[in-house]
Amino acid sequence: MTSSYAFWLAGRQATGEDTFDVTSPWDGRLVGTVSVPTDAQVEEAVAAAHAVREEFAATPAHVRAAALDHVSRRLVERTEEFAQLISAENGKPVKWARGEVGRAVSVFRFAAEEARRFNGGEAQRLDTDAGGQGRLALTRRFPKGVVLGIAPFNFPLNLCAHKIAPAIAAGVPIILKPAPATPLSGLIIGDLLAETELPAGSWSILPVANDKMPALVKDERLPVISFTGSEKVGYAIMDSVPRKHCTLELGGNGAAVVLADWASDADLDWAATRIATFSNYQGGQSCISVQRVIVDAAVHDRLVPRIVAAVEAQVTGDPSDPKTDVGPLVSEDAARRVESWVSEAVGAGAELLTGGERDGASYTPTVLTDLPADTTLAREEVFGPVLSIVKVDGEAEAFAAVNDSKYGLQAGVFTHDLQAAFRAHRALEVGGVIVGDVPSYRADQMPYGGAKQSGVGREGVRFAMDDYTYERVMVLTGIDL
Ligand code: SIN
Repeated sequence: MTSSYAFWLAGRQATGEDTFDVTSPWDGRLVGTVSVPTDAQVEEAVAAAHAVREEFAATPAHVRAAALDHVSRRLVERTEEFAQLISAENGKPVKWARGEVGRAVSVFRFAAEEARRFNGGEAQRLDTDAGGQGRLALTRRFPKGVVLGIAPFNFPLNLCAHKIAPAIAAGVPIILKPAPATPLSGLIIGDLLAETELPAGSWSILPVANDKMPALVKDERLPVISFTGSEKVGYAIMDSVPRKHCTLELGGNGAAVVLADWASDADLDWAATRIATFSNYQGGQSCISVQRVIVDAAVHDRLVPRIVAAVEAQVTGDPSDPKTDVGPLVSEDAARRVESWVSEAVGAGAELLTGGERDGASYTPTVLTDLPADTTLAREEVFGPVLSIVKVDGEAEAFAAVNDSKYGLQAGVFTHDLQAAFRAHRALEVGGVIVGDVPSYRADQMPYGGAKQSGVGREGVRFAMDDYTYERVMVLTGIDL
C-alpha cells in the first residue's frame, strides 16, 4: 500500500501543486508520493517561523519538554511503522531501521531532559578586579534566530531528529528540509509534533526541491544553517553565506586502528566482527562507517583472514527480511559510483580479497588491500560497503596513517593500553576517538562532528542547542556581593 504525503507548513498539513515519487532502492516499488511546497508556501513557513521567534523563546521549558517527551513516547508506540518506512524508502535493513527509531526515541528524550535544565543562568562575581566591585554578571543563552535544518538520506529519521529536537529544546523555530531520496521518515515526525501544543510556526517540514534551496539558504530570516551531507554541498552552502552561522556535518573515511597489544584470539575475533559489521551497516552509507583498517604488523596476518570471513558472513539481500545485514545502496547510481572506484583501485594495483560485484543498487561487501594512495578510494569517502586494510609498524605509524586524510570525523583504536588510548586521543586529528571499538560508535548525547574537511561545529543534543543559541551577559551593578 502506498500513500500520499502532505508536508508540514507552520505546524499544519498542507499540499502544493506538484508531487514527486519516492521509490524503494531494493525493488523500485513506489513507497509514497510527496507533495512539494510552492514558493509562496515556503515563504509562508519562513515568515511564520520568523514571526514566532519571541513567543517560542518565551514558551516555558515544561511545555517544550512535554512536547519532546510526547514525540519520544509516540515514536516508541509507532516504532515498527517508522522502521518499515525507513527501510522501504532508504533500503536500510529493517533490523538497522529499528535501531534508528530507537535512537530517535532517545534523541527526543535527551532533548526533553536538556530543555528542563538549559539556560538556568550562570552567575559570575566581577569584584575580582577593583573595577568590578559591587557587580555581578549573569549569563543566559538566547536564540541566534530561525534554524534551517538540511538532513541527509542515510539516517532519514534520526538525523532529522538531531536537527528538530534541539531546536524545540532551546525554543528556536526550525524549518527542516528532509533529503529528496528519503523524505517520508522526516515528514512523519510531523504527525507526532502536530499532536503537541507547540506554537504554530515554530516548526515546518518542507520537502523543498534542491534547485530552490539557494534562495532559502540566502534568506536573511534564517541566520543559522545546520547541514548534514556531502562535503561539496556543505562547503558550497557555507561559501554562499559567509556571514551566517553554519554547522556542517560532512564526510569521513573512518579508520579502525588495531594495535599490537590487541592480540588474543578473542580480541581479534571481536575486532573482525565489529569491523565487518560497521563497514557494511546500511551499505556503508554512514559518515563513520569503517573505510580503512590500519593494522599493526604484529597481528596483521591473524586479523586479515578473520575480517574477510566476517565480511563474507554478512547476510545480503532484501532489506525487509529481519535476517538481512546489508541491503542495497540508496540508488543504482550510488552503487555504480562505488563499482567504478573499486575498479579504478584494482586497476591501479589494489588486491581484492572479497566482494567487488554490483547487482542493480546492491554492492557486495568488499575488502581490499595494497590500495595505492593516489586512488579515489584512498582519498575520498566511499559511502559504500568497502574497506581497505593497511599494514603498519607500530603506533606512531598507525596514527600517522589515520591522519593522512583530508577528513577527520571519528577513529576507532583497538588497544588495552590506557596510555596508548590517551596518546591516540592527543594525536588523532578527528572529532572523536573510540577506544576498544570501531569509529562508527555514536551516542546521540555526546558531541559529534569533525575536524579538517569533515565539518564545522558539533551536534549531539546539548551541543546543537549551544550551536543554535548565543551567550548574552547581563551585568548587575550595586550588588551587595
Ligand atoms: C552520519 O552519517 O554522520 C551519522 C552517523 C550516526 O548518526 O550514527
